[in-house]
Amino acid sequence: MWKLLISFLYLAAFAAAQTSTKKPSPWQTLKGDAPLVIANGGFSGLFPHSSSIAYAFALQTGLPNTILWCDVQLTSDGYGVCLPDLLLNNGSDTGDQFPNKKKTYLINGNRTTGWFSVDFTLSELSKVSLIQGVYSRTFQFDQNLFPVMTIQEVVKQVKPPGLWLNIQHAAFFDQHKLNIRSFVLSTSRSSIVNYISSPEVNFLKSIVARLKATPTKLVFRFLGKKDIEPSTNQTYDSLLKNLTFIKTFASGILVPKTYIWPVDPKLNLQPSTSVVIDAHKEGLKIYASDFANDVPLAYDFSYDPVDEYLKFIDNDNFSVDGVLSDFPITPSAAIDCYSHMDKNDSSPAKPLIITHEGASGDYPGCTDLAYKKAITDGADILDCPVQMTKDGLPFCLGSINLIDRTNAVQAYSTLTMDIPELNGAGIFSFNLTWKEIQDLKPQIFNPYAEEKLYRNQNNKNKGNLMLLSDFLGLAYNATSISGVVISIEEASFLAKQGLSVTDAVLDALSTNDYDNQTIKRVMIQSTNSAVLTKIKEKKNFEFVYEVDEVIRDALNSTMLDIKKFADAVVIKKKSVFSRNNIGFLIGTTDVVPKLKAFKLPVYVKLFQNEFFPQAWDFFSDARVELNSFVVGADIDGVITEFPRTANNYRRNRCLGLGTNTPPYMTPVEPGSLLTVVLPQPPAQAPSPVLSDSNVLEPPLPSVAVAPTTANTTTPALPPTNPRNGQSKLVLSVLVANLPLLLAAILSL
Ligand SMILES: *[C@@H]1O[C@H](CO)[C@@H](O)[C@H](O)[C@H]1NC(C)=O
Ligand SMILES: *[C@@H]1O[C@H](CO)[C@@H](O)[C@H](O)[C@H]1NC(C)=O
Ligand SMILES: *[C@@H]1O[C@H](CO)[C@@H](O)[C@H](O)[C@H]1NC(C)=O
Ligand SMILES: *[C@@H]1O[C@H](CO)[C@@H](O)[C@H](O)[C@H]1NC(C)=O
Ligand SMILES: *[C@@H]1O[C@H](CO)[C@@H](O)[C@H](O)[C@H]1NC(C)=O
Ligand SMILES: *[C@@H]1O[C@H](CO)[C@@H](O)[C@H](O)[C@H]1NC(C)=O
Ligand SMILES: *[C@@H]1O[C@H](CO)[C@@H](O)[C@H](O)[C@H]1NC(C)=O
Ligand SMILES: *[C@@H]1O[C@H](CO)[C@@H](O)[C@H](O)[C@H]1NC(C)=O
Ligand SMILES: *[C@@H]1O[C@H](CO)[C@@H](O)[C@H](O)[C@H]1NC(C)=O
Ligand SMILES: *[C@@H]1O[C@H](CO)[C@@H](O)[C@H](O)[C@H]1NC(C)=O
Ligand SMILES: *[C@@H]1O[C@H](CO)[C@@H](O)[C@H](O)[C@H]1NC(C)=O
Repeated sequence: MWKLLISFLYLAAFAAAQTSTKKPSPWQTLKGDAPLVIANGGFSGLFPHSSSIAYAFALQTGLPNTILWCDVQLTSDGYGVCLPDLLLNNGSDTGDQFPNKKKTYLINGNRTTGWFSVDFTLSELSKVSLIQGVYSRTFQFDQNLFPVMTIQEVVKQVKPPGLWLNIQHAAFFDQHKLNIRSFVLSTSRSSIVNYISSPEVNFLKSIVARLKATPTKLVFRFLGKKDIEPSTNQTYDSLLKNLTFIKTFASGILVPKTYIWPVDPKLNLQPSTSVVIDAHKEGLKIYASDFANDVPLAYDFSYDPVDEYLKFIDNDNFSVDGVLSDFPITPSAAIDCYSHMDKNDSSPAKPLIITHEGASGDYPGCTDLAYKKAITDGADILDCPVQMTKDGLPFCLGSINLIDRTNAVQAYSTLTMDIPELNGAGIFSFNLTWKEIQDLKPQIFNPYAEEKLYRNQNNKNKGNLMLLSDFLGLAYNATSISGVVISIEEASFLAKQGLSVTDAVLDALSTNDYDNQTIKRVMIQSTNSAVLTKIKEKKNFEFVYEVDEVIRDALNSTMLDIKKFADAVVIKKKSVFSRNNIGFLIGTTDVVPKLKAFKLPVYVKLFQNEFFPQAWDFFSDARVELNSFVVGADIDGVITEFPRTANNYRRNRCLGLGTNTPPYMTPVEPGSLLTVVLPQPPAQAPSPVLSDSNVLEPPLPSVAVAPTTANTTTPALPPTNPRNGQSKLVLSVLVANLPLLLAAILSL
């Protein structure tokens, strides 16, 4: 049975974090207060909406004054319970428990079929359990049988600092002879109810006089602009033009976020409306709803939900007074850690931000635009995955297969070849001259296209590919860039085709004055130790060894081997935090401590903003994930396609606070969330330990004089991973590390 308490530890941390500055308010809210975080059914992005654990977890991970939102439904015997929807089958297993109690009712003129609270006594609802109502979220907590709670139970068990009751269908209860008005009035006498919202004018009008002298505030909720408000028969759109009227019975309004920042069907953010300023002029507070981290956001936010919140609370012109969110940790961090950041502040050195094909989350990878964006976004190191043209020129592209990153299929399909060593069929860069490649259209890479999560389609073919030497020139001129990383793969294969990629790289570095200077770092990266060894024989750059398998540890002898040819190591995220096949973190591996014991800096790939590949533990928030790796696992650098997010993360004001670190900036504790999953999934075979044979490679073959045919099967050469690293098949997720909380909840 779940009992809930708020950990005193975290309350203490909150209190400390709050005693910061006392300057004039930076907030353009109605009264200059910081915006409120309103947790929609608790932390409903993770746990079942309205469950005890969702409510407790919202308080444990959010701002100390986080408000808990309860959608009130009345039972036939007049109890008020928190359930997300008038239809009980959305978010609970009522349908399974009571198959015969399905009914059809007229709701605002619509015939609606399902299970309704008005047909159940409270005692009947005690047989019902809360489940995840949003299909894209994890259903692994459904077996916990979290009970439906009355409002009094929420207050007693969770002790919220603030409570918000939403009455979505007041008239419906009246039609069923249930007096929602007197229920709400008596509840606000017996418990502290801070806010009552409803989309029905008459309901709010009927209680406003009785609540005048109480702390309870009434909020009129706007639905879709074309929807009809049942008591006035006006559309919500027309009511929006009549805020003076709204002010007669409410002190605030709650609007869908698109009322404030509309988004067009192509996911482009439109200019803001004047609704926040209008509401404030009328003396109304304004709250925005529909915030969730796990939905496609406007492209302008690059899948970074913190940026979305900041647009509503920290723009030049206004701030909303609160946000209704399924993931309250994210607005908590946005408000306390990321708002009003001084744009002139310099970035801390850690973590080192290394790009992956430039800012390829926003532009086609390795184009001039992707690199320029990375520079303005605050990257430290620009990367060039080097490929060779038929005419022997090195250029930057994320794949040796042009199909992965350009429109080569359209013009050069006749050049398609099947080369097992290079992962099968493709149009390969070494079959086209630079002139031909330059004329191709680069294409933005959409690693999660199957999930319909596209990257900025306005930019999908923008920018130009660059020769390595142009890339080096660009990086040299960019004063904020501290160095470059040149990654070399398929060197053995190319040598057999008569192309020496290592010589081409050395030439380009030399021509561009990189080989005898101290201004820019030069890192050479490969998964093939022979490449590093070969270049090291000629020039002493920094050498970075990439471990392309997922490992849990490495032998000491292997560490010593690596130190012979590398100065730093790149590992995969799953080699830092192990993860099971249902998307939860299992624990922390020994890999980072081992590398550090051998004084090898650790860079981790691949950081992306999209929520889909993440571990559930990171709450679909790319910055929670970054924090868990950087602070929780103490890695030295991140390899990212979204350098802006990484840079804004490392500049936030909640880092380095020691024991005063607020919970929303505390790393996730791998494995803690998994303890809540019922039934516990079977243990998985652990990842292997990196050993000498994984690391040592035969020397590169000498460069063939004439290209051999693609047909001749060449032996040797271990298979290398496709450049796009992440497996699309694995649903799961990444990692984060809130030092949990869950343990505290569980132990009660
Ligand atoms: C179920 O409720 C959630 C909110 O908890 C809502 O987002 C979703 O649209 C609802 N689903 C249906 C089928 O009504
Ligand atoms: C009634 O149903 C229609 C069609 O499903 C929908 O568009 C409309 O918004 C519904 N009206 C209300 C008040 O729910
Ligand atoms: C709203 O419209 C309906 C049908 O059009 C009508 O029956 C009802 O009386 C109207 N209510 C008000 C308050 O005007
Ligand atoms: C505002 O709404 C009220 C109630 O529907 C109506 O009486 C009044 O005329 C409206 N005012 C304007 C300017 O539309
Ligand atoms: C602020 O308002 C000005 C003037 O209306 C407008 O030009 C500017 O784009 C607005 N800024 C934001 C962030 O909305
Ligand atoms: C930031 O830098 C710009 C240009 O260097 C300067 O004009 C501005 O005053 C600075 N802002 C702050 C807050 O220091
Ligand atoms: C770098 O700067 C120099 C001097 O300003 C300029 O001549 C050169 O074209 C620049 N190179 C690139 C790649 O921008
Ligand atoms: C490298 O630069 C140093 C100082 O500028 C110079 O003394 C040295 O000769 C240079 N070495 C080469 C190989 O160019
Ligand atoms: C491996 O190296 C670590 C760190 O240098 C050391 O503590 C440990 O004892 C070594 N293990 C073995 C088996 O040598
Ligand atoms: C493509 O490259 C392969 C391997 O180097 C070579 O055998 C083949 O002749 C090339 N084809 C063309 C059209 O360049
Ligand atoms: C591969 O070999 C087969 C048979 O030896 C030959 O017919 C074919 O043309 C070759 N393909 C290429 C791309 O060289």
